[in-house]
Amino acid sequence: MVKINDNYTKLPGSYLFSDIAKRIARYSEANPDKKIIRLGIGDVTQPLSSSIIDALHKSVDEMADADTFHGYAPDLGYEFLRNAIAENDYKSRGCDIRPDEIFVSDGAKCDCANIQEIFATDNVVAVCDPVYPVYVDSNVMAGRAGDYDEEQGLFDRIVYMPCLEEHGFAPEIPEKTADLIYLCFPNNPTGAVITKDELQKWVDYANETGSVIIYDAAYEAYIQTEGIPHSIYECEGAKTCAIELHSFSKNAGFTGVRLGYTVVPHELVRDGIELHSLWARRHSTKYNGAPYIIQRAGEAVYSTEGQKEIKELIAYYMRNASYILEGLKEAGYSVSGGVDAPYIWLKTPEGMSSWDFFDYLLENANVVGTPGSGFGPHGEGYFRLTAFGSYENTVEAVDRIKRLANK
Ligand SMILES: Cc1ncc(COP(=O)(O)O)c(C=O)c1O
Repeated sequence: MVKINDNYTKLPGSYLFSDIAKRIARYSEANPDKKIIRLGIGDVTQPLSSSIIDALHKSVDEMADADTFHGYAPDLGYEFLRNAIAENDYKSRGCDIRPDEIFVSDGAKCDCANIQEIFATDNVVAVCDPVYPVYVDSNVMAGRAGDYDEEQGLFDRIVYMPCLEEHGFAPEIPEKTADLIYLCFPNNPTGAVITKDELQKWVDYANETGSVIIYDAAYEAYIQTEGIPHSIYECEGAKTCAIELHSFSKNAGFTGVRLGYTVVPHELVRDGIELHSLWARRHSTKYNGAPYIIQRAGEAVYSTEGQKEIKELIAYYMRNASYILEGLKEAGYSVSGGVDAPYIWLKTPEGMSSWDFFDYLLENANVVGTPGSGFGPHGEGYFRLTAFGSYENTVEAVDRIKRLANK
């Protein structure tokens, strides 16, 4: 009889967002007249901008004609898109990333979950705590995480790097050497960013120890502060130790359209093998490319008009972030993030647990956020709100929270 991959049974409970959905459904059923505002899941709400829509229409029309029809995409993605990425996301920032080091995909979630496949299962993985859960769960599924300790909420083979308030929610280099290190800046869930000097320390550490950093830059477009690195390749030596992940979801609203890319530089060599060749092999065997029409839409993001439009989109969400940040401060909350990131990380009042605060806010303000404990034990006592709602809903939600605080 077939045996299942037993590693899946080690995953604790259900996915965070399905737990949240169940609680909302239960509350809505009992209170059908209440208007719930969702500032929980990190999904965008604003429509695609006009240059992206135009590119989609045009490329759909191309598919209707045999002369301009496109079938399977090239393994790494279309050159027009990889050239635009190399030029705009790297060359313009002084980073020497070549188009053939860029792998186009249907989003950063798949890539950050799949990248671990090219590494041995006995590597030690280090993650931030709190963390975007996909990094941990994908390593659990692959058998790299060890056993789950229910009481602590931790896997015994994973190195957790606590991100504490006193360090601005930045992780510190772990005492135990880690082989594979996941970093995400601007951070989901805390909204924290890293300075170039601090990031350089991680790069130097990885080059010294032979570790590899998986750098998730899904929120880089939200950086407003001058001098904060948009890419790990802005650090010296990063090409010999880092893989970088990007998404079009949050900068251009592609959560339902699906597009992302991963950079694996040729200089990144371990055990005498270019990791680029392993990822290329994985990509060509297990993936058949993001659709042509979507890659054309991605190209439009880099046009002059596209760049202007996405800046406006980001400004829209960042206005929400400021409104949440300021409103919560006025209501007496201790808050961080929300300056270079679309996430606001707040401390729950009076030592309430994250889930108790979730229920409190749902029941008393009809506002949904995400319990910090869902991102790891050091998220306990914290709560995440996103700036991805509509402006009107964001204002209404914050005003309700403020009224609740004044009761
Ligand atoms: C840190 C981080 N990485 C990756 C992703 C996934 O992005 P995509 O929509 O491109 O799969 C998300 C989505 O919320 C995220 O928060």
